[in-house]
Amino acid sequence: MYLLSRAIFTFVACSSIAISSISAFTPLSWDQAYVKADMLVGQMSLEQKVNLTTGVGWSNGPCVGNSGRSVNPNFPELCLQDAPLGIRFADLVSSGVAGINAAASFDKAAIRRRGEYMGKEFRAKGINVQLGPGMNMARTAAGGRNWEGFGEDPYLAGIASAETIQGIQSEGVMATAKHIIGNEQETNRNEASSDIDDRTMHEIYLWPFARSVEAGVASVMCSYNKVNGVYACESEYVLNQLLKGELGFKGFVQSDWSATHSTSPSVNGGLDMTMPGDVKFGSGTSYFGSTLVDAVRRGEVTEARVTDMATRIVAAWYKLGQDQNFPPVNFDSFHPDRGQHIDVQDNHKELIREMGAASTVLLRNKNNILPLQPSKLRRLAVIGEDADMNPSDLNSCPDHGCDKGTLAQGWGSGTAEFPYLITPLQGLQDALPDSVTIDASADNDIGKATQTAKGADIAIVFANSDSGEEYITVEGNKGDRNDISLWHNGDSLVEAVANANKNTIVVIHSVGPITMPWINHPNIQAIVWPGLPGQESGNALADVLLGKVNPSGRLPYTIAKNVNDYPASVSKDMNIPYKEGLLIGHRWFDANGIQPLFEFGYGMSYTKFNYDKIAVEIDPTHVGVKVSVMVQNTGNMDGAEVVQAYLGFPEDADEPPKVLRGFEKINLKKGAPAEPVTFRFGPTELSYWDTDKQRWVIPVGQFTVYVGASSRDIRQAANFTIP
Ligand code: NOJ
Repeated sequence: MYLLSRAIFTFVACSSIAISSISAFTPLSWDQAYVKADMLVGQMSLEQKVNLTTGVGWSNGPCVGNSGRSVNPNFPELCLQDAPLGIRFADLVSSGVAGINAAASFDKAAIRRRGEYMGKEFRAKGINVQLGPGMNMARTAAGGRNWEGFGEDPYLAGIASAETIQGIQSEGVMATAKHIIGNEQETNRNEASSDIDDRTMHEIYLWPFARSVEAGVASVMCSYNKVNGVYACESEYVLNQLLKGELGFKGFVQSDWSATHSTSPSVNGGLDMTMPGDVKFGSGTSYFGSTLVDAVRRGEVTEARVTDMATRIVAAWYKLGQDQNFPPVNFDSFHPDRGQHIDVQDNHKELIREMGAASTVLLRNKNNILPLQPSKLRRLAVIGEDADMNPSDLNSCPDHGCDKGTLAQGWGSGTAEFPYLITPLQGLQDALPDSVTIDASADNDIGKATQTAKGADIAIVFANSDSGEEYITVEGNKGDRNDISLWHNGDSLVEAVANANKNTIVVIHSVGPITMPWINHPNIQAIVWPGLPGQESGNALADVLLGKVNPSGRLPYTIAKNVNDYPASVSKDMNIPYKEGLLIGHRWFDANGIQPLFEFGYGMSYTKFNYDKIAVEIDPTHVGVKVSVMVQNTGNMDGAEVVQAYLGFPEDADEPPKVLRGFEKINLKKGAPAEPVTFRFGPTELSYWDTDKQRWVIPVGQFTVYVGASSRDIRQAANFTIP
């Protein structure tokens, strides 16, 4: 719909600023921010208030969204810019791991650091509002934008959203929780209705938004789709009742780009800002602006409501301290030549490399073929177009709308241009000693692949699967994936390499689950899953393959044996009932006794961990339970374990068999004594949504807590009841 015809950035001489010298700010509470906002907005005319809520129109400002300037009293035009993984349409920025990799790290502190460095970069470019994180759920395996979000589990998505938001906002940049709600597929996203029942809405789809509001998120973006028959951006139920009512959201709701469909219904339904402002890109008309002023004059919208809209925007700005020393916008999305080209990357590549390695999931490692031992390796074959990249292809497709070479992010508005991309081949070349000869065939030609694989001690074969946003169609995939098999004949490539070399290692760069028809091939010794690792792809991979980093990523989604095993698929219908209800992802596989290929939460390490001595303590004064286990590294290498806690609810609650309610990533030294890992479950973790009572309720009866290394590798369990 709005593919940019835009010159590719030329990397011109740049100035750089000392980002670290930007002083930290003290965030205000919402109450404090509202006091200031009330004063400022109190001096504004109706037109000035409306102006704040109305974007200036697509490509009429330097950012993808620019709010109107309320000339007097002085309030700046706000810059709203994609993306959830880095700054879109700018150069000299970092292009890090995708949201789905952040989730795969299962590392709260690392997710927070990722938010912080992004916040630093957005701030340094003068961006007031980052359009992320994305927190729609991976309801279907083929959903085109799953990779922007945090996977199939609401608890994991909730934690990842909150940590990301806190990280971004700690730098004084407003984060945007998006897209509320039910934007789980790209097919017909502008017309179709996601039909979600009350309990499922609360326990699954609203959950990450609830955690975002608790984290103090400044802005929420409403989605393109309809929800239970009404457009999300004019849904009184979604915006007023759920978000602002139940969750108590105090910031402002912005529309997705052209997701506003009306004036009074939207404004009265709870929409506070329309983006990019015009009805259709370049239409020159708006549902807000003078149309909204007229609606107020006609009495369809009260001025008090407009005051509320403006106050929410101004309060968010004060809350984040943007009234003090906020840098001016210094780049231009649509006219790069007008920008100042400030380098904001600092040393963020180090964090990106760490995160790339920490989110790489080791799915198989027979006979400890990994980590590679260079001293025993003479010839290494590196095979597949996904192993390398022609430099001229790096940012050659707008918004990464193509799958050329190695895959490190999906396509669409959720992307950022690569400052550079370390390919797997390059990463391995740099990491391996000269004594190892690398034979590369960065190509999916089966004949060449077979030839290259034959003489090598070990053959690493690379393949990928891509997806993105619906306004770009890539190889027949209009956002959502048409199927979940590897692209570019990847299955045959893997098969051919495995036929030619008994020490085959498969590396998959993918936006989400794939089918693995070659899984039982006896020559496939290892399977490594770096997902979408961003600019440091090859370095992060080499760190894992060579054992510099012990893998500790865990799957944020289920990889099924069969595509038909999943609870839901992308629908072509205009009504999409979320029929599986609470049984999204791994919950469905549990409830129906379906064995997945690789379960949610799964991932191997080069070492081993032992779990012991589960203990449960009930706190009778506060509603709460403390569960601890002792975990020890009993293998031969230091490493990190992701200890996961699932709850089984009392039967009356009618919950799925096991519900994730805690995880901790801990670093453990080999041979060191066992360490305690503690989980605390309070009302949030222990309740279910009671549709009759319309509130969260802690059920009476016996709970079971399951602690383990994945959703199916439970090592310790105990029962408890809440008095
Ligand atoms: C549409 C996307 O759905 C949204 O996520 C993005 O932030 C806006 N476009 C702006 O590019």
